[in-house]
Amino acid sequence: MDILAITNKLKENNQEQLLKYYDEISDEEKEYLCGQIEKLDFSILDNIKNGAGSDERGVIEPIGALTIEEINEDKKKYEEVGLKAIKAGEVGAVLLAGGQGTRLGLDCPKGMLNVGVNKTLYLFEQLINNIMDVVNKAGTYVPLYIMTSEKNNEDTVNFFEENNYFGYDKSFVKFFVQEMAPSTDYNGKIYLEEKGKVSMSPNGNGGWFLSMEHAGLVDEMSERGVKWLNVFSVDNVLQKIADPVFVGASIEKNVVCGSKVVAKAAPDEKVGVLCLEDGKPSIVEYYEMTDDMINLRHEDGKLQYNYGVILNYLFDVATLKRLVKSSLPIHIVEKKIPHIDENGDYIKPDSPNGYKFETLVLDMIHMMDNCLAFEVERSREFAPIKNATGVDSLESARELMRLNGIEF
Ligand code: UTP
Repeated sequence: MDILAITNKLKENNQEQLLKYYDEISDEEKEYLCGQIEKLDFSILDNIKNGAGSDERGVIEPIGALTIEEINEDKKKYEEVGLKAIKAGEVGAVLLAGGQGTRLGLDCPKGMLNVGVNKTLYLFEQLINNIMDVVNKAGTYVPLYIMTSEKNNEDTVNFFEENNYFGYDKSFVKFFVQEMAPSTDYNGKIYLEEKGKVSMSPNGNGGWFLSMEHAGLVDEMSERGVKWLNVFSVDNVLQKIADPVFVGASIEKNVVCGSKVVAKAAPDEKVGVLCLEDGKPSIVEYYEMTDDMINLRHEDGKLQYNYGVILNYLFDVATLKRLVKSSLPIHIVEKKIPHIDENGDYIKPDSPNGYKFETLVLDMIHMMDNCLAFEVERSREFAPIKNATGVDSLESARELMRLNGIEF
């Protein structure tokens, strides 16, 4: 595409600002920028006009969970079943590490955060320590797939290499890179991140299986005999990975998907809640719930909408393969987006200044015919690091690490 065609494409889509500094940049930068613009799919921006994420919901009802007490009663059986599957190589793990962690505001991949005080302990290292629990129990490594983005892939891979995969057998680790989407200001104008570079950001954690497929890893995994994938986030230091009890319970209950959940700390806690929507599992965000729903209780006083998700899901691979091409809803998320302003200056904002477009793994749950809500103890399994201070911060995570006897 020549520059005339590029200019026309931008005019048609009201995005001429992307060529504002064209005359100032080198030939190489020009080529890069034009290449990016050629590939841009502007239709994603229609979501701003159409109010993405505000779709009508179906009929929402509470979902029952396998409670901690019930799990404990059959723990031995579940663990045996889960370990058998893990030993047979049927369980893989997927670490979602493509996010930018803008709330925490690091200049490196979040997993490179040192959570230690008396010794160095990186978030990635702690996750490997956690997965080693099951590796030691099962006597075999669990295939570990790590999703990165174009922004952090090199740093992440180098970090694992430099640290010798924290003792994990590297032949069981595979990295893959997720797709990107443009970021815009509040008027839907796409930002430039450099004078010769369109601002692109990772397109959410919902595309992980499709990105695995693009990377040839679905075939790789099938050859290994993987039948279940445990998907989890990078920022929960207490994350239990490929938990045999969770795997075993999901197999025993004959479901195609499982979600670890915690009982809400308070009725109005800001967590996504696992529910039924038109009879199928679904996650409803806290802001979508009415006061009546929030306060609805069973006769024994327990909240009916009680189970918050913690981004630890188990998926049946055969079902994922069948659904891989189905499209997920696009969410418009307000974020801090570094960019070049109209004076040509680089701006790193302190507060959100525009939109990113994301699909989310939680929306995959509604594509499943069923989902086991598997209750876990919050203080034992959920210590996310999202913010610099306060709720879900390094400080709160350290408190929970202390409680769990983790040395740091
Ligand atoms: P978050 O929702 O916390 O997003 O991601 P984030 O981008 O990491 O952080 P903020 O919102 O900018 O502060 C939950 C999990 O999903 C992964 C993250 O790495 C984290 O493990 N994720 C998120 C991706 O892998 N890709 C994405 O595009 C977004």
